[in-house]
Amino acid sequence: MSEKRNQVSRRQFLNYTLTGVGGFMAAGMLAPMVRFAIDPVLKTSAQSDMVAVADLSEISDEPTRIDWTIDQVDGWYESEVPKSAWVYKDENDDIIALSPVCKHLGCFVNWQGDESHPDQFYCPCHDGRYYKSGVNVPNTPPEEPLDEFEVRIDGQTLYLGQTKPHREA
Ligand code: FES
Repeated sequence: MSEKRNQVSRRQFLNYTLTGVGGFMAAGMLAPMVRFAIDPVLKTSAQSDMVAVADLSEISDEPTRIDWTIDQVDGWYESEVPKSAWVYKDENDDIIALSPVCKHLGCFVNWQGDESHPDQFYCPCHDGRYYKSGVNVPNTPPEEPLDEFEVRIDGQTLYLGQTKPHREA
């Protein structure tokens, strides 16, 4: 009976070693790429959550600026991000929450910021103007209406979420 030798040749040893090391290095390079590709899926839903920003009794038919902050985690860095909205009740008693960020180049708009154009939002950077509805006034620099926040009402509390394009955009 012949004894079968079960030795690994030098060539096989090198093949196994190089394959193992190569696979380990490839996994090390691919893992961050995969993580980057699916990052939005891994994020907590906290960022998309609605935030309680005001009591409904504070809201009238006159646009009021409401400020709040959200917690933001960027890698290992945590910060509080300031947010603002112009909020009012329209003629149907629906809550309208407009982004204050001008659609021209991103300055902040103010309600009744220009004496010669009352009842409009005014952007001081390049004289941009918007009607109370948030729609841009023709022949002023902005070419789109202000974005709107997602609105939810629970009892007497107003919650705001993410911005979305204006309903008339
Ligand atoms: S940034 Fe508002 S008009 Fe230019």
